[in-house]
Amino acid sequence: MLPKRRRARIGSPGGNAASSERPSTRFPGITIYLVERRMGRSRRAFLTRLARSKGFRVLDACSSEVTHIVMEQTSAEEAVCWQEHRATAAPSECTPATLLDISWLTESLAAGQPVPMESRHRLEVAEPRKAPPSSIWMPAYACQRPTPLTHHNISLSEALETLAEAAGFEGREGHSLTFLRAASVLRALPRPVVALTQLRGLPHFGEHSFRVVQELLEHGVCEEVERVRHSERFQTMKLFTQIFGVGVRTADRWYQEGLRTLDDLREQPQRLTQQQKAGVQYYQDLSTPVLQPDAEALQQLVEAAVEQVLSGATVTLTGGFRRGKLQGHDVDFLITHPEEGQEAGLLPRVIRCLQDQGLVLYQQYQHSLYGAPGHHSHTMDAFERSFCIFRLPQPPGASVREDPSCPAWKAVRVDLVVAPISQFPFALLGWTGSKLFQRELRRFSRKEKGLCLNSHGLFNPEQNTVFHVASEEDIFRHLGLEYLPPEQRNA
Ligand code: UTP
Ligand code: MN
Repeated sequence: MLPKRRRARIGSPGGNAASSERPSTRFPGITIYLVERRMGRSRRAFLTRLARSKGFRVLDACSSEVTHIVMEQTSAEEAVCWQEHRATAAPSECTPATLLDISWLTESLAAGQPVPMESRHRLEVAEPRKAPPSSIWMPAYACQRPTPLTHHNISLSEALETLAEAAGFEGREGHSLTFLRAASVLRALPRPVVALTQLRGLPHFGEHSFRVVQELLEHGVCEEVERVRHSERFQTMKLFTQIFGVGVRTADRWYQEGLRTLDDLREQPQRLTQQQKAGVQYYQDLSTPVLQPDAEALQQLVEAAVEQVLSGATVTLTGGFRRGKLQGHDVDFLITHPEEGQEAGLLPRVIRCLQDQGLVLYQQYQHSLYGAPGHHSHTMDAFERSFCIFRLPQPPGASVREDPSCPAWKAVRVDLVVAPISQFPFALLGWTGSKLFQRELRRFSRKEKGLCLNSHGLFNPEQNTVFHVASEEDIFRHLGLEYLPPEQRNA
């Protein structure tokens, strides 16, 4: 026999979260769908339960049966955009349903029956919208939309990314993220923004980002962006944070102490860690972009070393190059072995093999911290890894140095990461990036699905369960997201 309280809950209509869809016949002809965007997951679940308990029929998915679509904090224009987007994305599910503001539902719930739909409830635009350029519907999370590498709004997105970087230099992470999200929306647009009306209804476009785009459209330059770009602070912070091993906090301290140039740093070697010394020593090469053929050559060298150390182990190119970038600031590799456990401790032997060939200028090894007490970092994963600087031989005539007598090699930053096969899809997803794409994917998992995603796995913290996956596709599926290949993750 069940305890009384549980029995009561099971018996009540819609008592079991938003998943029970028992059709109610109390109000025939009315089938409601609540749009989660802006309303939020938990409020939507709450309203669904409440409405069902009062005899309203509420569906979890928007199908052709739906007659009333209810939205919260959504303008009529946005609502119409949303419906148009749906009509294009899934014509078979499309419905001529009425778009309504939440006020219709709350008034109906209070009345215990559907109240008449008045014009103040309706989300309608007075005039039919003209053909492009007009605003388009765009989902709020970067992981819900494809973002190709090349896009139509480069100068606009670069301006916002400059402001994001500058905010990051000042430790204003929230501001930085806001600009990055707006820039990422521009990256995902299918056409160039030529009129401000195109920004209407786009997610993450706050007043500040809007103003920047407005200035760029009207004057071709944005005064604030230009001021930032030319400021001593921005330029010095950019120079310092570009050094291998230097983060914002260190760069800021040096700046506050009056340091401005690489020569200033060279004069005070006692300030520098071993990693930073290597960063300063090879600065010129490391600040030159790594090209795709370099990445390919490095993959062959790493593959040969890995194969020599552990037969059957694989090397996968990740990072920007996997997303189709033709150049990058480093090259990222993920190593695994089809037999779980075989990969453990593999890296020191691989490094030694590469060192014996004279290919390593610097390396810093970090053994696996997975499961180690105190390792709860949200940003860093716990894989066995090595941050290296490789000495990459260059083909004759391709020397990066002006002096022809210089040796034909170039210093290249390489990250080697080792993951057990059971965590490989998560590690691959995490290390493929982009950084913003991963951040958004994790935020989406947490906020919309109540799940915790990182480079080690996908967890349900409430039920204390983990998801087993065999591929990146499986992870997208578990999250209820359409699969996006690496080339579409350039958020
Ligand atoms: P990168 O910083 O290498 O960026 O990190 P990128 O996209 O390859 O771009 P460039 O061309 O090198 O500048 C690649 C991915 O690996 C993740 C980052 O979040 C990013 O998504 N990453 C990086 C980690 O998960 N952990 C780290 O310690 C570093
Ligand atoms: Mn990279």
